[in-house]
Amino acid sequence: MFTNDTLKGRSALVTGGGSGLGLGIATAYAQLGANVMIVGRNEERLESAIEHLKKSGGSVASMKCDVRNYDEVKAAVEATVSRFGQLDIMVNNAAGNFICPTSELSPNGWRTVIDIDLNGTFYGCHAAYPHLQKSPFGGSIISIITMLGVTGWPQAAHASAAKGGILSLSRTLAVEWGADNIRVNTISPGPIGDTEGVKRMYIDVGRGEMEAQKTALGRFGKTIDIANAAVFLASGLGEYITGENLIVDGGRWLKQIAP
Ligand code: HXC
Repeated sequence: MFTNDTLKGRSALVTGGGSGLGLGIATAYAQLGANVMIVGRNEERLESAIEHLKKSGGSVASMKCDVRNYDEVKAAVEATVSRFGQLDIMVNNAAGNFICPTSELSPNGWRTVIDIDLNGTFYGCHAAYPHLQKSPFGGSIISIITMLGVTGWPQAAHASAAKGGILSLSRTLAVEWGADNIRVNTISPGPIGDTEGVKRMYIDVGRGEMEAQKTALGRFGKTIDIANAAVFLASGLGEYITGENLIVDGGRWLKQIAP
């Protein structure tokens, strides 16, 4: 429903872009005219993602990067600028998570998820800033969170705290970097049926239908629903939107009781 040139002339970096929501966002960006760099930890996954992305028609590249390492994140940002000439859109999508009762969570388990999700997002924002500041379109930072970081997420205290932290970080940066014409927003996906996370946590353990019914719409979302939100926020269509958390969850977080 967007036109093919919605993101023409813009360059994007997507962390965790080798699969899932990150690849979905990268694909939509490439299809709508953006140059796209995807980064992730798994080189094989990146290679197959690039094969897929090449069919989208845009100019695409990939690079190995663990977002827990600031130097690697900075190198990925610089590789994007050197390859495409500029960086206009930074998507902090990489995430790590596992279910574990908090009383059994080790300090290293806590630290690992905080490192990937919260610290990795901060590194992305920080490394991208000097380049986003120069974007002729105005820079755009989009970080993927979840409303479970706002309402509470039993047995995922590490991920919940990290996502809540990203929301707070994004609101602060929206105010601090607004004068640099950098917009900073988050997207809160609900359960997205074609992702590994929902397959593993809900569908494979027989909770699919019950979890779908917890949404107001009574169904899981699709990766393209999140990609469309990420296109909107990154494009000129969203150019007066900053500090916003765009909830794309089928009404999941609002629904308190079964019908
Ligand atoms: C308890 C665990 C654990 C588990 C790891 N740990 N898995 N503790 N239960 N299931 C502990 C380990 O024992 C260790 O602590 C510490 O965490 C680090 O574990 P490593 O395996 O060494 O870490 P690493 O290899 O870096 O892997 C990171 C990871 C892993 C986060 C643990 O799961 C990962 O790489 N995930 C990436 C993919 C992913 O999770 N995607 C989901 C994102 S989607 P000790 O103390 O033993 O040293 C998402 C949305 C879901 O989150 C939304 C659903 C609605």
